[in-house]
Amino acid sequence: MCYSIPAKVVEIKNHIGVIDYFGEKRNILLDDDRVKTGDYVYAQGGILVRTIPEKEALEILETWKEIFFELKKVDESLSKIKTDKLPENAMHILQKVNLRKTLTKKELASLFELDHKNELSVLYEIANNVRQRSHGNASCVHGIIEFSSYCQQNCFYCGIRKDKNIERYRMTCKEIVETAGNAVDKYGFKALVLQSGEDYWYSDSKLEEIVKSVRQLGVLVFLSIGSRSISTYKKLYAAGARAALIRFETSNKASFSKLRPGTTLQDRIALIKELKRIGYILATGFIVGLPEETSQDIINNIMLTKYLAPDMYSFGPLIPANGTPLEKEAIIKKELILKTTAIARLADSNSNILVTTALETLDLSAGKEALLAGANSMMINITPVKLKKLYSIYDNRAGINTVLHKSIKQTTDLLYNLGRAPVDTGDIRGLK
Ligand code: 5AD
Ligand code: SF4
Repeated sequence: MCYSIPAKVVEIKNHIGVIDYFGEKRNILLDDDRVKTGDYVYAQGGILVRTIPEKEALEILETWKEIFFELKKVDESLSKIKTDKLPENAMHILQKVNLRKTLTKKELASLFELDHKNELSVLYEIANNVRQRSHGNASCVHGIIEFSSYCQQNCFYCGIRKDKNIERYRMTCKEIVETAGNAVDKYGFKALVLQSGEDYWYSDSKLEEIVKSVRQLGVLVFLSIGSRSISTYKKLYAAGARAALIRFETSNKASFSKLRPGTTLQDRIALIKELKRIGYILATGFIVGLPEETSQDIINNIMLTKYLAPDMYSFGPLIPANGTPLEKEAIIKKELILKTTAIARLADSNSNILVTTALETLDLSAGKEALLAGANSMMINITPVKLKKLYSIYDNRAGINTVLHKSIKQTTDLLYNLGRAPVDTGDIRGLK
């Protein structure tokens, strides 16, 4: 897989580089003084991943040249608003979004009221159109390695919570680097999420060794290790990690403390804010479908995500996991996630919105529908198959038995069919 097109650095000013993909420009943060104008680079989420020799870059660009413009055409055509007569409410909101005006909470709540099939399809069309105008056809695909299923927390919703009696595993640094190396060398991944439960068996120094070794493979290292201390996150940033995925799970204070015993929303938010301050690319979000959740809670979740100003939104449905306190919870309808995706896109047109495995578990075709309702990024699970089954945050996860080359093909086929191209999803220059 070559899921990232090389870009040429065309300008550098104060550690900000302007990079060019077939004439399309983006800004990236260059935290490496060796990079010069004229170099070819891979970038992810507005950050330099690595430089690439000119000869190799030109060869790759040659194969992409025609495909790139073909994909753009497909995306442009799929993201046109086809409904000629928009309902008054939708028209008003679209006008506001076009003028880059912030939608009020009341307006977001009124969108949430939409329920009729035709109204929803207009909402998705508008969100997809806004996505296209903010990001072009850029999409990103990150690999994820679930390196430990041990966790010291007892979240009510989670199938690997501490009190659940399950077979658990830990990958050694060597195993993680081998898995990551295979994903990079054989399949061309440019960004890898390292995910685990909150597992203090991995001391700061073990984590630093893992981050350094994976970073050396020439990828963006994305952490998803839960509420570790600020000092741990600082050390890991220094070791080369540049992104962190950490959901606040719910903006409802009482639910948060009930569902994550012994922890508070306030502390979680403080940590998330600090991660941004350290310089991490931030992915955050929430679960939809927690007990007693109201539509107001979901709107508050979107508003809180926006307030935290992440680079990526990550939210998905609760999949009630057997053997957890929430095993009897009702399963939500996929439309609720599609609606949340579209509203999040309208609330924050610049955001990157992830399609989660939980959504694909709910309904196999929902990934495609979410991409057509405002989402623009995906993840591929690269955990070795025999371990993937044991990382059972919920049961029957989508893709649990799929071998890696097949998941890659499914994901890239899906994106290419929708006209999405693997250029950086970071800040588009000139469109803001
Ligand atoms: N259903 C959906 N998402 C879940 N998570 C944990 N358990 C479940 C579940 N049963 C999510 C949490 C966590 C992420 C790693 O997985 O939001 O942050
Ligand atoms: Fe642990 Fe995360 Fe599961 Fe909570 S959701 S029990 S922190 S793995």
